[in-house]
Amino acid sequence: MVEKRFIVVTDNETRFNELSETLKGIGTSVWLHWNTDLLAQLVGSLGTDIVFIDYIGENAEKAAELTRSLLAVYPSLWVVGFSHRTDSQLVLDAMRSGARDFVELQAPVDTLNTVKSILERSPSLPAQSSGRMITILGARPGIGTTTAAMHLALLLQQEAAQGESVLLLDFGYPSGDAALYLDTKVSFNFCDAVRSLRRFDQALLNTAFAHHKSGMAIMSLPQNLADLRDITPTDAMTLLSLLKSYFKVVVADLGGFAGLDLVMYALGISDHVELVCEQSLPSVYSARQMLVNLRERGFDTDRIGLLTGKYDGRIDLAPAQIAQNLQIRHDGDLPQRTEKMIACANIGKPLLEVAPRDPYLDVLRSIAANLRKGQPHAEARGAEQGATLLGRLFKPNLRAGG
Ligand SMILES: Nc1ncnc2c1ncn2[C@@H]1O[C@H](COP(=O)(O)OP(=O)(O)OP(=O)(O)O)[C@@H](O)[C@H]1O
Ligand SMILES: [Mg+2]
Repeated sequence: MVEKRFIVVTDNETRFNELSETLKGIGTSVWLHWNTDLLAQLVGSLGTDIVFIDYIGENAEKAAELTRSLLAVYPSLWVVGFSHRTDSQLVLDAMRSGARDFVELQAPVDTLNTVKSILERSPSLPAQSSGRMITILGARPGIGTTTAAMHLALLLQQEAAQGESVLLLDFGYPSGDAALYLDTKVSFNFCDAVRSLRRFDQALLNTAFAHHKSGMAIMSLPQNLADLRDITPTDAMTLLSLLKSYFKVVVADLGGFAGLDLVMYALGISDHVELVCEQSLPSVYSARQMLVNLRERGFDTDRIGLLTGKYDGRIDLAPAQIAQNLQIRHDGDLPQRTEKMIACANIGKPLLEVAPRDPYLDVLRSIAANLRKGQPHAEARGAEQGATLLGRLFKPNLRAGG
């Protein structure tokens, strides 16, 4: 069965977790807070099979209101109300506002059956249009993370079908490295995009986003990282999800970015993650630290593959040893290409343009090919992880649009 996507509207983390746990066998639940504008927008752009709305206690009135306003925009949407226990008046109120069904948090088996029957009855639910996201992490600065992310994105763009687009999300620091390597001017940065969240559409994407001449879109962090303080984490995370639905592929270079919550979220919604690590002890040590941190925060590091950076067969430390030490799978070795890379950087052209058959690119080609083939298993796991991480990440004081 195709993975379903559910949106759960509640301000209560426990309720979200209960429902998403119940539904996890059939789909991914995304947690959203009360914010009608944003909700309407997200429902439209993410595509969802069912929107669950919290009708518990004093929420009932605003839940009914939200149900009505969502249905005014999307008449064919399936809204399902939920509470701890059903009470006939509550169900009646929910139905009057347009909810198609009602479920009890305390009856997971019934909930599951209700949802399954809804999904069977309504084969023509709004389509899900979600792209894939690939994240490249770097163990340390300067080991080639940005170069790898940029070339992977370019390869995907070059080989993508017409009209299908790739976004390079350059979160490395100092910001704008990828744009520099590609000689592309990026004036619309991540913070600008977050601020435009409520008017985000294809037109904005075509006009405001920087595009490399290959057609690939590029977005960087602001030059002044202090600007990040002005945006709420929830909005930043929502933007990441939105980007994933607007592009066929998002390649995120999380290189040296330190804002861990955002990194965790990006990882959570990533379908594929690679960690670049050099054949040196300090690099392996940093990679280990990073993996320990990720595991501590509940991330399943089995989803991460090792890409050896600046690989040189003469170095004693073999990639297989590194992978074993880090306990991650070994996906490939990016060969050392010092002079060529510097020459490319100096003329503002990617290696792909200067030497398209370079073995460095073949390593990334094979990763791109795997991605195109799609690995449904990894994908489903990734999506689930996204949901549970999402649950953990939204702290009460960080909620937007209250
Ligand atoms: N495979 C390679 N062989 C040799 N040099 C490389 C290779 N990949 C990248 N480089 C060079 O290493 C330097 C750093 O590369 P890059 O900016 O991609 O690394 P990074 O890990 O993103 O660094 P930062 O921490 O600065 O973001 C650049 O000069 C680049 O040209
Ligand atoms: Mg970088």
